[in-house]
Amino acid sequence: MGFDLVVCGRAFVGGRIKYSEIGVEDGRISAVRGSLSGGERRIDVPGGVILPGFVDPHVHFRDPGMTEKEDFPSGTMAAVHGGVTCVLDMPNTVPPVTDISTLMEKKARVKGRAHTDYGLFAAVTPGCNAGTMAPLVPGFKLFMGSTTGRILLNDDAEIAPALQGIFRAGKRVSVHAEDDGMILKGREDDCRCHLRNRPVEAEVNALRRLSRFKGMRVNICHNTNAESVALAKELGFTTEVTLHHLFLDPDRLTTAEYKVNPPLRNAAVREGLYAAFIDGRISMFGSDHAPHTLSDKSQDFDSAPSGIPGVETTIPIVMGMVRRDVIPLAQAVSMGSETPAASFGMRKGRIEEGYDADLSVFDMRACTEIDVRRLHSKAGHSPYGGWEAVFPETVIVRGEIQIDGREFCGDRIGEDAYAGD
Ligand code: DOR
Ligand code: ZN
Ligand code: ZN
Repeated sequence: MGFDLVVCGRAFVGGRIKYSEIGVEDGRISAVRGSLSGGERRIDVPGGVILPGFVDPHVHFRDPGMTEKEDFPSGTMAAVHGGVTCVLDMPNTVPPVTDISTLMEKKARVKGRAHTDYGLFAAVTPGCNAGTMAPLVPGFKLFMGSTTGRILLNDDAEIAPALQGIFRAGKRVSVHAEDDGMILKGREDDCRCHLRNRPVEAEVNALRRLSRFKGMRVNICHNTNAESVALAKELGFTTEVTLHHLFLDPDRLTTAEYKVNPPLRNAAVREGLYAAFIDGRISMFGSDHAPHTLSDKSQDFDSAPSGIPGVETTIPIVMGMVRRDVIPLAQAVSMGSETPAASFGMRKGRIEEGYDADLSVFDMRACTEIDVRRLHSKAGHSPYGGWEAVFPETVIVRGEIQIDGREFCGDRIGEDAYAGD
Protein backbone atom coordinates (compact mmCIF):
# COMPACT_ATOMS: atom_id res chain seq x y z
CA MET A 1 0.00 0.00 0.00
CA GLY A 2 1.14 3.53 -0.68
CA PHE A 3 1.73 4.91 2.78
CA ASP A 4 3.52 8.25 2.95
CA LEU A 5 4.68 7.39 6.44
CA VAL A 6 4.57 4.44 8.82
CA VAL A 7 5.10 5.11 12.54
CA CYS A 8 6.06 2.01 14.53
CA GLY A 9 6.18 1.48 18.26
CA ARG A 10 4.12 1.02 21.39
CA ALA A 11 0.97 3.04 20.83
CA PHE A 12 -2.24 3.87 22.67
CA VAL A 13 -4.76 2.12 20.45
CA GLY A 14 -8.28 1.02 21.41
CA GLY A 15 -7.81 1.98 25.05
CA ARG A 16 -4.52 0.23 25.68
CA ILE A 17 -0.85 0.21 24.80
CA LYS A 18 0.24 -2.27 22.17
CA TYR A 19 2.92 -2.51 19.55
CA SER A 20 1.44 -1.01 16.39
CA GLU A 21 2.44 0.13 12.95
CA ILE A 22 0.48 3.22 11.98
CA GLY A 23 0.14 3.89 8.28
CA VAL A 24 -0.44 7.45 7.11
CA GLU A 25 -1.78 8.54 3.74
CA ASP A 26 -2.55 12.16 2.82
CA GLY A 27 -2.35 13.24 6.44
CA ARG A 28 -4.82 10.62 7.65
CA ILE A 29 -4.33 7.34 9.48
CA SER A 30 -5.21 4.74 6.88
CA ALA A 31 -4.23 1.56 8.74
CA VAL A 32 -3.26 0.47 12.26
CA ARG A 33 -1.89 -3.10 12.45
CA GLY A 34 0.69 -5.23 14.21
CA SER A 35 2.73 -5.08 11.04
CA LEU A 36 2.50 -3.06 7.83
CA SER A 37 4.67 -3.38 4.79
CA GLY A 38 5.68 -0.57 2.50
CA GLY A 39 5.70 3.11 3.19
CA GLU A 40 7.92 5.83 1.76
CA ARG A 41 9.25 6.61 5.20
CA ARG A 42 9.28 4.58 8.42
CA ILE A 43 9.87 5.94 11.89
CA ASP A 44 10.61 3.65 14.82
CA VAL A 45 10.13 4.85 18.36
CA PRO A 46 11.55 1.99 20.41
CA GLY A 47 11.76 3.86 23.73
CA GLY A 48 8.61 5.88 23.45
CA VAL A 49 4.87 5.61 23.64
CA ILE A 50 2.84 6.97 20.73
CA LEU A 51 -0.27 8.90 21.78
CA PRO A 52 -2.91 10.69 19.77
CA GLY A 53 -1.90 14.37 19.41
CA PHE A 54 -3.37 16.53 22.15
CA VAL A 55 -6.16 19.01 21.51
CA ASP A 56 -6.27 22.14 23.66
CA PRO A 57 -9.88 23.37 23.54
CA HIS A 58 -9.10 26.74 25.10
CA VAL A 59 -6.29 29.16 24.17
CA HIS A 60 -6.02 32.94 23.69
CA PHE A 61 -3.44 33.62 20.96
CA ARG A 62 -4.12 37.39 20.79
CA ASP A 63 -3.90 37.52 17.00
CA PRO A 64 -5.03 40.01 15.76
CA GLY A 65 -4.82 43.02 18.03
CA MET A 66 -2.50 42.14 20.93
CA THR A 67 0.35 40.45 19.12
CA GLU A 68 2.95 41.79 21.53
CA LYS A 69 1.48 39.25 24.01
CA GLU A 70 1.27 36.34 21.52
CA ASP A 71 0.56 35.66 17.87
CA PHE A 72 -0.33 32.59 15.87
CA PRO A 73 3.26 31.60 15.05
CA SER A 74 4.48 31.93 18.65
CA GLY A 75 1.36 30.41 20.25
CA THR A 76 1.31 27.37 17.97
CA MET A 77 5.10 26.97 18.35
CA ALA A 78 4.56 26.78 22.12
CA ALA A 79 1.67 24.35 21.61
CA VAL A 80 3.55 21.90 19.41
CA HIS A 81 6.52 21.80 21.83
CA GLY A 82 4.01 20.74 24.49
CA GLY A 83 2.57 17.85 22.46
CA VAL A 84 -0.52 19.79 21.36
CA THR A 85 -1.38 19.28 17.69
CA CYS A 86 -4.60 21.30 17.56
CA VAL A 87 -5.73 24.42 19.46
CA LEU A 88 -9.11 26.11 19.67
CA ASP A 89 -8.61 29.86 19.89
CA MET A 90 -10.96 32.16 21.79
CA PRO A 91 -12.72 35.11 20.12
CA ASN A 92 -11.64 37.91 22.49
CA THR A 93 -9.05 39.14 20.03
CA VAL A 94 -9.15 42.72 18.73
CA PRO A 95 -11.56 43.23 17.05
CA PRO A 96 -13.56 40.44 18.73
CA VAL A 97 -14.94 37.67 16.51
CA THR A 98 -18.62 38.57 16.65
CA ASP A 99 -19.79 38.11 13.06
CA ILE A 100 -18.94 36.45 9.79
CA SER A 101 -16.77 39.30 8.54
CA THR A 102 -14.51 39.47 11.63
CA LEU A 103 -14.33 35.67 11.52
CA MET A 104 -13.30 35.59 7.86
CA GLU A 105 -10.75 38.37 8.41
CA LYS A 106 -9.20 36.48 11.32
CA LYS A 107 -9.13 33.29 9.24
CA ALA A 108 -7.38 35.05 6.36
CA ARG A 109 -4.89 36.56 8.76
CA VAL A 110 -3.82 33.37 10.57
CA LYS A 111 -3.80 31.14 7.48
CA GLY A 112 -0.36 29.76 6.72
CA ARG A 113 1.11 30.95 10.04
CA ALA A 114 0.28 28.03 12.35
CA HIS A 115 2.49 25.12 13.41
CA THR A 116 -0.53 23.12 14.63
CA ASP A 117 -4.06 22.71 13.36
CA TYR A 118 -6.56 25.08 14.86
CA GLY A 119 -10.15 26.23 15.13
CA LEU A 120 -11.37 29.77 15.75
CA PHE A 121 -14.30 30.32 18.11
CA ALA A 122 -16.92 33.01 17.51
CA ALA A 123 -18.44 34.98 20.39
CA VAL A 124 -22.03 34.63 21.55
CA THR A 125 -23.62 38.05 21.00
CA PRO A 126 -27.31 39.02 20.93
CA GLY A 127 -27.49 39.27 17.16
CA CYS A 128 -24.91 36.64 16.23
CA ASN A 129 -25.86 34.77 13.12
CA ALA A 130 -25.13 31.24 14.33
CA GLY A 131 -26.38 29.53 11.18
CA THR A 132 -23.89 31.26 8.90
CA MET A 133 -20.90 30.88 11.20
CA ALA A 134 -21.60 27.36 12.53
CA PRO A 135 -19.82 25.30 9.85
CA LEU A 136 -16.74 27.53 10.15
CA VAL A 137 -16.14 27.37 13.91
CA PRO A 138 -15.59 24.71 16.59
CA GLY A 139 -18.19 26.46 18.74
CA PHE A 140 -19.22 29.75 20.29
CA LYS A 141 -17.85 31.37 23.46
CA LEU A 142 -20.10 33.00 26.02
CA PHE A 143 -18.54 35.36 28.57
CA MET A 144 -20.97 35.75 31.49
CA GLY A 145 -18.30 37.47 33.61
CA SER A 146 -16.12 40.40 32.61
CA THR A 147 -12.48 39.71 31.78
CA THR A 148 -10.02 40.50 28.95
CA GLY A 149 -12.01 41.79 25.94
CA ARG A 150 -15.41 43.43 25.64
CA ILE A 151 -17.84 40.67 24.77
CA LEU A 152 -19.69 40.26 28.04
CA LEU A 153 -23.23 38.88 27.77
CA ASN A 154 -24.90 38.27 31.11
CA ASP A 155 -28.60 38.92 30.51
CA ASP A 156 -30.71 35.75 30.42
CA ALA A 157 -33.21 37.35 28.05
CA GLU A 158 -30.41 37.86 25.51
CA ILE A 159 -28.51 34.65 26.25
CA ALA A 160 -31.48 32.32 25.67
CA PRO A 161 -32.33 33.12 22.02
CA ALA A 162 -28.64 33.34 21.09
CA LEU A 163 -27.89 29.92 22.58
CA GLN A 164 -30.98 28.33 21.03
CA GLY A 165 -29.82 29.47 17.59
CA ILE A 166 -26.41 27.90 18.21
CA PHE A 167 -27.85 24.59 19.44
CA ARG A 168 -30.14 24.49 16.40
CA ALA A 169 -27.04 24.89 14.25
CA GLY A 170 -25.56 21.85 16.04
CA LYS A 171 -22.69 23.64 17.77
CA ARG A 172 -21.34 23.69 21.32
CA VAL A 173 -21.18 26.78 23.52
CA SER A 174 -18.11 27.13 25.76
CA VAL A 175 -18.96 29.29 28.74
CA HIS A 176 -16.90 31.51 30.99
CA ALA A 177 -19.33 30.89 33.83
CA GLU A 178 -18.98 33.67 36.38
CA ASP A 179 -22.15 35.67 37.02
CA ASP A 180 -21.01 39.25 36.48
CA GLY A 181 -23.75 40.54 38.80
CA MET A 182 -22.06 38.72 41.69
CA ILE A 183 -18.54 40.02 41.03
CA LEU A 184 -17.54 42.78 43.46
CA LYS A 185 -15.62 45.69 42.02
CA GLY A 186 -13.60 46.83 45.09
CA ARG A 187 -9.94 47.74 44.68
CA GLU A 188 -7.55 44.78 44.69
CA ASP A 189 -3.98 44.60 46.00
CA ASP A 190 -3.28 40.90 45.59
CA CYS A 191 -4.72 37.51 44.61
CA ARG A 192 -6.57 37.22 47.90
CA CYS A 193 -8.55 40.42 47.19
CA HIS A 194 -9.17 39.18 43.65
CA LEU A 195 -10.54 35.96 45.10
CA ARG A 196 -12.76 37.84 47.53
CA ASN A 197 -14.19 39.91 44.69
CA ARG A 198 -14.93 36.85 42.55
CA PRO A 199 -16.49 34.24 44.85
CA VAL A 200 -17.24 30.57 44.06
CA GLU A 201 -20.94 31.46 44.30
CA ALA A 202 -20.61 33.62 41.18
CA GLU A 203 -19.59 30.49 39.27
CA VAL A 204 -22.23 28.26 40.80
CA ASN A 205 -24.93 30.85 40.14
CA ALA A 206 -23.92 31.23 36.50
CA LEU A 207 -24.34 27.47 36.17
CA ARG A 208 -27.74 27.50 37.89
CA ARG A 209 -28.88 30.07 35.36
CA LEU A 210 -27.73 27.74 32.57
CA SER A 211 -29.82 24.85 33.94
CA ARG A 212 -32.62 25.69 31.47
CA PHE A 213 -30.24 24.38 28.79
CA LYS A 214 -30.00 20.95 30.41
CA GLY A 215 -28.92 18.30 27.91
CA MET A 216 -27.75 20.85 25.32
CA ARG A 217 -24.22 21.17 23.96
CA VAL A 218 -22.71 23.34 26.68
CA ASN A 219 -19.09 23.24 27.84
CA ILE A 220 -18.11 24.86 31.14
CA CYS A 221 -14.58 26.30 30.92
CA HIS A 222 -12.02 26.44 33.72
CA ASN A 223 -14.05 24.94 36.58
CA THR A 224 -12.52 25.90 39.92
CA ASN A 225 -14.70 23.97 42.35
CA ALA A 226 -16.41 20.61 42.86
CA GLU A 227 -19.91 22.07 43.13
CA SER A 228 -19.73 23.56 39.62
CA VAL A 229 -18.38 20.29 38.26
CA ALA A 230 -21.22 18.31 39.90
CA LEU A 231 -23.89 20.71 38.65
CA ALA A 232 -22.45 20.74 35.13
CA LYS A 233 -22.39 16.96 35.08
CA GLU A 234 -26.00 16.77 36.26
CA LEU A 235 -26.95 19.07 33.39
CA GLY A 236 -25.11 16.92 30.85
CA PHE A 237 -22.53 19.63 30.13
CA THR A 238 -18.86 18.94 29.39
CA THR A 239 -16.27 20.51 31.70
CA GLU A 240 -12.73 21.83 31.44
CA VAL A 241 -10.08 22.18 34.11
CA THR A 242 -6.79 24.10 34.12
CA LEU A 243 -3.70 23.09 36.06
CA HIS A 244 -3.53 26.52 37.69
CA HIS A 245 -6.94 26.04 39.32
CA LEU A 246 -5.94 22.56 40.49
CA PHE A 247 -2.54 23.42 41.89
CA LEU A 248 -1.69 27.10 42.42
CA ASP A 249 -2.15 28.62 45.86
CA PRO A 250 -3.20 32.30 45.99
CA ASP A 251 -2.04 32.60 49.59
CA ARG A 252 1.51 31.95 48.43
CA LEU A 253 1.37 33.26 44.87
CA THR A 254 -0.11 36.67 45.51
CA THR A 255 1.20 38.92 42.72
CA ALA A 256 -0.45 39.94 39.44
CA GLU A 257 1.42 37.20 37.58
CA TYR A 258 -1.12 34.84 39.14
CA LYS A 259 -4.15 37.08 38.61
CA VAL A 260 -6.62 35.12 36.52
CA ASN A 261 -10.36 34.78 35.95
CA PRO A 262 -11.92 32.88 37.55
CA PRO A 263 -9.40 33.37 40.37
CA LEU A 264 -7.13 30.82 42.05
CA ARG A 265 -9.09 29.34 44.95
CA ASN A 266 -8.13 28.53 48.54
CA ALA A 267 -6.88 25.09 49.61
CA ALA A 268 -10.25 23.62 50.63
CA VAL A 269 -11.84 24.49 47.27
CA ARG A 270 -8.82 23.20 45.34
CA GLU A 271 -8.95 19.91 47.24
CA GLY A 272 -12.57 19.42 46.20
CA LEU A 273 -11.68 20.16 42.58
CA TYR A 274 -8.70 17.80 42.74
CA ALA A 275 -10.89 14.98 44.09
CA ALA A 276 -13.36 15.52 41.22
CA PHE A 277 -10.45 15.39 38.76
CA ILE A 278 -8.92 12.23 40.22
CA ASP A 279 -12.35 10.55 40.22
CA GLY A 280 -12.67 11.21 36.49
CA ARG A 281 -15.57 13.64 36.87
CA ILE A 282 -14.01 16.35 34.67
CA SER A 283 -14.24 15.93 30.88
CA MET A 284 -11.08 17.63 29.61
CA PHE A 285 -7.98 19.71 30.16
CA GLY A 286 -8.13 23.21 28.72
CA SER A 287 -5.01 25.27 29.38
CA ASP A 288 -6.84 28.62 29.10
CA HIS A 289 -3.46 29.84 27.85
CA ALA A 290 -3.92 33.60 28.42
CA PRO A 291 -0.56 35.28 27.84
CA HIS A 292 0.24 38.80 28.94
CA THR A 293 3.75 40.26 28.86
CA LEU A 294 5.79 40.70 32.01
CA SER A 295 5.44 44.44 31.63
CA ASP A 296 1.60 44.11 31.47
CA LYS A 297 1.80 42.00 34.60
CA SER A 298 4.14 44.34 36.48
CA GLN A 299 1.59 47.15 36.66
CA ASP A 300 -0.05 47.58 40.06
CA PHE A 301 -2.29 44.61 40.86
CA ASP A 302 -5.60 46.38 40.34
CA SER A 303 -4.81 47.52 36.79
CA ALA A 304 -2.85 44.42 35.67
CA PRO A 305 -4.64 42.13 33.21
CA SER A 306 -5.81 38.61 34.16
CA GLY A 307 -4.52 35.40 32.63
CA ILE A 308 -1.85 32.70 32.97
CA PRO A 309 0.01 31.04 30.07
CA GLY A 310 -0.07 27.22 29.87
CA VAL A 311 -0.41 25.76 26.37
CA GLU A 312 3.17 24.40 26.34
CA THR A 313 3.28 23.12 29.93
CA THR A 314 -0.13 21.50 30.52
CA ILE A 315 0.37 18.16 28.78
CA PRO A 316 4.04 17.72 29.84
CA ILE A 317 3.00 18.26 33.48
CA VAL A 318 0.10 15.84 33.00
CA MET A 319 2.54 13.27 31.57
CA GLY A 320 4.69 13.82 34.66
CA MET A 321 1.59 12.93 36.69
CA VAL A 322 1.05 9.80 34.60
CA ARG A 323 4.65 8.85 35.23
CA ARG A 324 4.14 9.15 38.99
CA ASP A 325 0.89 7.13 38.74
CA VAL A 326 -1.24 10.07 39.88
CA ILE A 327 -3.62 9.41 36.98
CA PRO A 328 -3.74 6.57 34.47
CA LEU A 329 -2.49 7.18 30.93
CA ALA A 330 -5.99 6.43 29.62
CA GLN A 331 -7.36 9.37 31.59
CA ALA A 332 -4.68 11.73 30.28
CA VAL A 333 -5.54 10.68 26.72
CA SER A 334 -9.26 10.94 27.22
CA MET A 335 -9.08 14.37 28.91
CA GLY A 336 -6.37 15.69 26.59
CA SER A 337 -7.18 14.19 23.19
CA GLU A 338 -10.30 12.05 22.76
CA THR A 339 -12.89 14.12 24.58
CA PRO A 340 -11.90 17.60 23.37
CA ALA A 341 -11.70 16.33 19.77
CA ALA A 342 -15.06 14.54 20.01
CA SER A 343 -16.79 17.39 21.86
CA PHE A 344 -15.90 19.81 19.07
CA GLY A 345 -16.63 17.37 16.27
CA MET A 346 -13.13 16.70 14.92
CA ARG A 347 -11.76 13.47 13.40
CA LYS A 348 -8.79 13.79 15.74
CA GLY A 349 -7.77 12.53 19.16
CA ARG A 350 -7.60 8.79 18.39
CA ILE A 351 -5.12 6.47 16.73
CA GLU A 352 -7.67 4.87 14.47
CA GLU A 353 -8.29 4.48 10.77
CA GLY A 354 -9.87 7.60 9.27
CA TYR A 355 -8.59 9.96 11.95
CA ASP A 356 -6.06 12.72 11.29
CA ALA A 357 -2.46 11.51 11.68
CA ASP A 358 -1.71 13.71 14.71
CA LEU A 359 0.71 11.89 17.02
CA SER A 360 2.74 12.85 20.09
CA VAL A 361 5.49 10.51 21.23
CA PHE A 362 6.69 10.57 24.83
CA ASP A 363 9.60 8.78 26.45
CA MET A 364 8.34 8.35 29.98
CA ARG A 365 11.88 7.95 31.31
CA ALA A 366 12.85 11.41 30.04
CA CYS A 367 11.54 13.46 32.93
CA THR A 368 12.83 17.03 33.19
CA GLU A 369 12.25 20.19 35.16
CA ILE A 370 10.54 23.01 33.30
CA ASP A 371 12.93 25.81 32.34
CA VAL A 372 10.86 28.95 31.75
CA ARG A 373 13.57 30.44 29.50
CA ARG A 374 13.10 27.57 27.06
CA LEU A 375 9.34 28.02 26.63
CA HIS A 376 8.08 29.54 23.38
CA SER A 377 5.21 31.84 24.33
CA LYS A 378 5.82 35.57 24.02
CA ALA A 379 4.54 35.85 27.60
CA GLY A 380 8.06 35.05 28.82
CA HIS A 381 6.85 33.87 32.21
CA SER A 382 5.18 30.78 33.64
CA PRO A 383 4.19 29.65 37.11
CA TYR A 384 5.62 26.20 36.37
CA GLY A 385 9.39 26.79 36.40
CA GLY A 386 11.07 23.82 38.12
CA TRP A 387 7.98 21.58 37.87
CA GLU A 388 8.48 17.97 36.84
CA ALA A 389 7.40 17.34 33.25
CA VAL A 390 7.78 14.97 30.31
CA PHE A 391 8.02 16.85 27.02
CA PRO A 392 7.31 15.02 23.75
CA GLU A 393 10.21 13.58 21.75
CA THR A 394 8.35 13.62 18.44
CA VAL A 395 5.21 15.46 17.34
CA ILE A 396 3.44 14.81 14.06
CA VAL A 397 0.64 16.98 12.66
CA ARG A 398 -1.38 15.31 9.85
CA GLY A 399 1.60 13.18 8.92
CA GLU A 400 4.12 16.05 8.97
CA ILE A 401 6.93 15.76 11.50
CA GLN A 402 6.98 19.04 13.45
CA ILE A 403 9.13 18.05 16.44
CA ASP A 404 11.94 15.50 16.33
CA GLY A 405 14.33 14.87 19.22
CA ARG A 406 12.44 17.59 21.11
CA GLU A 407 13.51 20.16 18.51
CA PHE A 408 11.29 21.91 16.04
CA CYS A 409 12.02 20.68 12.52
CA GLY A 410 8.76 21.49 10.78
CA ASP A 411 6.97 24.30 9.08
CA ARG A 412 3.82 26.39 9.24
CA ILE A 413 1.65 23.56 7.97
CA GLY A 414 -1.20 24.01 10.46
CA GLU A 415 -4.68 24.11 8.96
CA ASP A 416 -8.06 25.38 9.99
CA ALA A 417 -10.01 22.32 11.15
CA TYR A 418 -13.24 24.19 10.33
CA ALA A 419 -12.36 25.57 6.91
CA GLY A 420 -15.87 24.64 5.80
CA ASP A 421 -14.88 22.81 2.64
O1 DOR B 1 -7.92 35.37 33.21
C1 DOR B 1 -8.45 35.34 32.11
N1 DOR B 1 -7.81 35.79 31.03
N2 DOR B 1 -9.68 34.86 32.01
C2 DOR B 1 -10.37 34.95 30.86
O2 DOR B 1 -11.49 34.49 30.81
C3 DOR B 1 -9.80 35.63 29.68
C4 DOR B 1 -8.34 35.56 29.73
C5 DOR B 1 -7.67 36.49 28.75
O3 DOR B 1 -8.08 36.49 27.58
O4 DOR B 1 -6.74 37.18 29.14
ZN1 ZN C 1 -12.67 32.40 30.73
ZN1 ZN D 1 -10.10 31.77 28.51
